[in-house]
Amino acid sequence: MLTTTLDTQRLQLRPFQSDDLARFWEIGHSDYEIARWLTGLTWPPIMMEAEAFIEKAIAVNPKTDSFPFAIELDGQLVGGVEIEKPGDLKEFPELPTIGYWLSQKAQGQGFMVEACVAALHWGFSREACDVFAARVFATNYSSQKVLKKLGFEPAGVCLRYSKPLQQDVENIIMHLPRDRFEALHGDAHVMMGAAL
Ligand SMILES: CC(C)(COP(=O)(O)OP(=O)(O)OC[C@H]1O[C@@H](n2cnc3c(N)ncnc32)[C@H](O)[C@@H]1OP(=O)(O)O)[C@@H](O)C(=O)NCCC(=O)NCCS
Repeated sequence: MLTTTLDTQRLQLRPFQSDDLARFWEIGHSDYEIARWLTGLTWPPIMMEAEAFIEKAIAVNPKTDSFPFAIELDGQLVGGVEIEKPGDLKEFPELPTIGYWLSQKAQGQGFMVEACVAALHWGFSREACDVFAARVFATNYSSQKVLKKLGFEPAGVCLRYSKPLQQDVENIIMHLPRDRFEALHGDAHVMMGAAL
């Protein structure tokens, strides 16, 4: 079970909980404008898949598993950001990765960068690594902007089968060296809450 919470200036990152399901489904899992950018979601959406995500997120062993944070704004779920253990990205199996989504209503206000800065501060210290990786569709320009603001730089390309789009999609692999992240975001206001 996860107990870590991270507070930023406007957001709280916290573990998922069972009563997140209805809102998670409404603002994330069943919204095509979110799902189409995420490789692994079935489309049309399946409630059982959303239930399984929440159940797995609640049951995570923080010592060995990936770490899915729910993002809360003013007490309401608005998105998610996940720190994935090394092994998620087959081209760079030694690197941890980050993935994220934000409800359409919450987009365009800088929340994702704010949430990712907190998650990465925590991730760099937890994984004790020098580089994080991310994979983004070549046409996902808003996500690429988020990654660039965080300090990520292109490191390669790959093809991935997208379940919602039902076709192979070109992806860009990006790397974030710890020293670059800290030079850009080392002074971010992040409060680490309850520890693991
Ligand atoms: C990616 C995502 C989290 C970004 O959310 P956000 O922080 O609200 O993003 P914004 O709308 O503020 O856009 C970020 C930047 O991209 C720019 N942008 C948005 N759409 C764009 C487009 N079509 N072309 C070029 N730039 C674009 C914005 O202007 C903004 O730049 P700015 O801050 O310099 O103005 C959100 O769009 C999302 O959840 N998408 C679906 C899931 C997803 O793509 N996850 C990531 C998978 S890698």
